[in-house]
Amino acid sequence: MMARMPLIAGNWKMYKTVPEAVETAGALVQRLADYDESAQVMIAPPFTALAALSRVLEGSPVALGAQNLFWEKEGAFTGEISGPMLVSAGCRFVLIGHSERRQYFGEIDETVCKRVRAALDAGLIPVVCIGETESQRDAGETFSILDKQLSNGLKDIVLVLNDPAKWAVAYEPVWAIGTGKTATSAQAQEVHSFVREWVAKAVGQTTADGLRILYGGSVKPGNIAELMAMPDVDGALVGGASLDPETFEKIIRYQKS
Ligand code: PGA
Repeated sequence: MMARMPLIAGNWKMYKTVPEAVETAGALVQRLADYDESAQVMIAPPFTALAALSRVLEGSPVALGAQNLFWEKEGAFTGEISGPMLVSAGCRFVLIGHSERRQYFGEIDETVCKRVRAALDAGLIPVVCIGETESQRDAGETFSILDKQLSNGLKDIVLVLNDPAKWAVAYEPVWAIGTGKTATSAQAQEVHSFVREWVAKAVGQTTADGLRILYGGSVKPGNIAELMAMPDVDGALVGGASLDPETFEKIIRYQKS
């Protein structure tokens, strides 16, 4: 089986002005000056901080990502940002379909699909976020919901997803985001292995073996090692705990803790 390089990603959500973002990213880069790069690291600040952070992160082990993109390249779409614009601002990654986008901004699987295709076309690595709500889990619908999110979110594009280096999945149970309730490592593993099997069936076994599947939802320095010890957990998407450079560094260096 292909070895998968872990990916530790920070999702800053709607936090930090440009000066605050520059200060935080600068402190993180300093803390990682001697980092052995045993995991790939990425931070996704708000759009307004991208260009400034691309300069701060240059030559560091930290890659830049955005939190969303629109699927058209350009046009009369007031308030939207395209893939080529993100690339020109220094991004390599883009989060797509985060549950907060689904919950508050009308994101649905069909628009996730358009964004994933646009990200791939622009040469960005989409991190496709999926996850069930608490009531869906309680109703025993977790796997059917995830199957639907994957089937509709990646519909018609499975043919362009065969290179596992070009995309990633983040499993983020909605009930664990920002709540302090983390999925147990066994719950995460169960879902991650389901996702990998889904990818094996839909795209192919080699893609499934190489694909990184991240866990997200209240990841902290105290639970990262246990989560990462699971065979199908290949990284983390970290919200709140990525805002502080010292805490995020501890998560990035989980192996040594
Ligand atoms: P959290 O957020 O780590 O604050 O729970 C995770 C996410 O929403 O990506």
